[in-house]
Amino acid sequence: MSSDDHELRVSKIRNGTVIDHVRGGQALNVLAILGIDGTQNEQVSIGMNVPSDRLARKDIVKVEDRELSQEEVDVISLIAPDATINIVRDYDVTSKHRVERPRQVEGVLTCPNTTCITTEDEPVTSRFEVLDDGVRCAYCGTIVRDGIADLIGSR
Ligand code: CTP
Ligand code: ZN
Repeated sequence: MSSDDHELRVSKIRNGTVIDHVRGGQALNVLAILGIDGTQNEQVSIGMNVPSDRLARKDIVKVEDRELSQEEVDVISLIAPDATINIVRDYDVTSKHRVERPRQVEGVLTCPNTTCITTEDEPVTSRFEVLDDGVRCAYCGTIVRDGIADLIGSR
């Protein structure tokens, strides 16, 4: 038992994935990336703006009976660069790793520039380079720093 057990705000889960150290305010965007809207009977617990050692405040998302794909983790890394992905099996954390930001992401973000070739009818898959503080469209150069989550939705 750790000394801070009395601060546990969200119950432990039995099996599933805990996405921890999510930047405060991003929990609902993490759910959106995972396609969770509450209609599929998934068991999900969320903590928002919970005190944290590493971050001023953090969000935490616990999804039972689900593991994440690499693509889902890659997109989460864009909005939650310090996130930890913990796999839980029979109440124990069996694997823990920090998300790694990919060099680029393809087909997961929609360019906000309406005249960008990727947003027109041509079958061009979107591609964004990942910067330290945002993403940059590989086709038109548009840089997005805030509101990356609003671009999620492949085309
Ligand atoms: N957790 C959970 N259910 C479990 C086991 C762990 O929800 N059965 C959660 C914990 O509440 C914590 C995260 O998974 O938010 C990681 O657990 P653990 O590694 O035990 O915690 P810490 O050592 O505090 O993690 P870190 O060092 O990554 O902050
Ligand atoms: Zn573009």
